[in-house]
Amino acid sequence: YKRQERQYAVAIDGPSGAGKSTLARAAAEALHILYVDTGAIYRTIGVYMYRHDIAPTDAPAVTASLPEITVALRYDEEGLQRMYLNGEDVTKEIRLPMISKYASDVSAIPEVRAFLMELQRSLAREHSVIMDGRDIGTVVLPDAEVKTRARRRFLELEQRGTPKPFDEVLRDMEQRDYNDTHRAAAPLRPADDAIMIDNTDMDFAASLELLLDGIRGRVAS
Ligand code: DC
Repeated sequence: YKRQERQYAVAIDGPSGAGKSTLARAAAEALHILYVDTGAIYRTIGVYMYRHDIAPTDAPAVTASLPEITVALRYDEEGLQRMYLNGEDVTKEIRLPMISKYASDVSAIPEVRAFLMELQRSLAREHSVIMDGRDIGTVVLPDAEVKTRARRRFLELEQRGTPKPFDEVLRDMEQRDYNDTHRAAAPLRPADDAIMIDNTDMDFAASLELLLDGIRGRVAS
């Protein structure tokens, strides 16, 4: 006899460089639930604009191109999330340094956010998830059982391998975070009922424990 597992959702929102993805991935593994990186979904839209030479800040042009786009998310044998743009695997390309700016710019467009909503919600309907992003606890999954908010901790940059100097990469990242926090459409802000995962002075293991304790404390077992 196997008891049916109760489904639940964990939202983890925070700026880039907070170590969200590493933490969320490890938590998902410990809890045997699905890890969803929603930034990768915005990055996939960014790749389309980049390839088609559409300025990511040109809201009418970006919006007009959306009917041409199909975004899909799949998990490979190793459980890694892969992104597909019109059927093509773009998992590698979404990490190219210039795509970060494209993703941040297109993510400020309300039509883009609306376009990607159902994909994100359907994953949470079908599975227990830990979803990492900016507006998961506020907009995408307002009923998530657990909402956490990560602080920037690791100043380890997301764009290793770029020829740009450290200062410049850091400045670009901070500019994107500023834009993601101050835009009108679903800005990054803590949900009122979010648990703060303040991992400023913690190492990875302690941060993970804090996150898992927060989740276990809220999800009745
Ligand atoms: O997490 P990331 O840096 O890969 O995300 C890329 C961009 O996508 C980020 O600058 C803001 C945007 N984003 C968003 O607006 N909402 C989300 N839930 C996730 C990402």
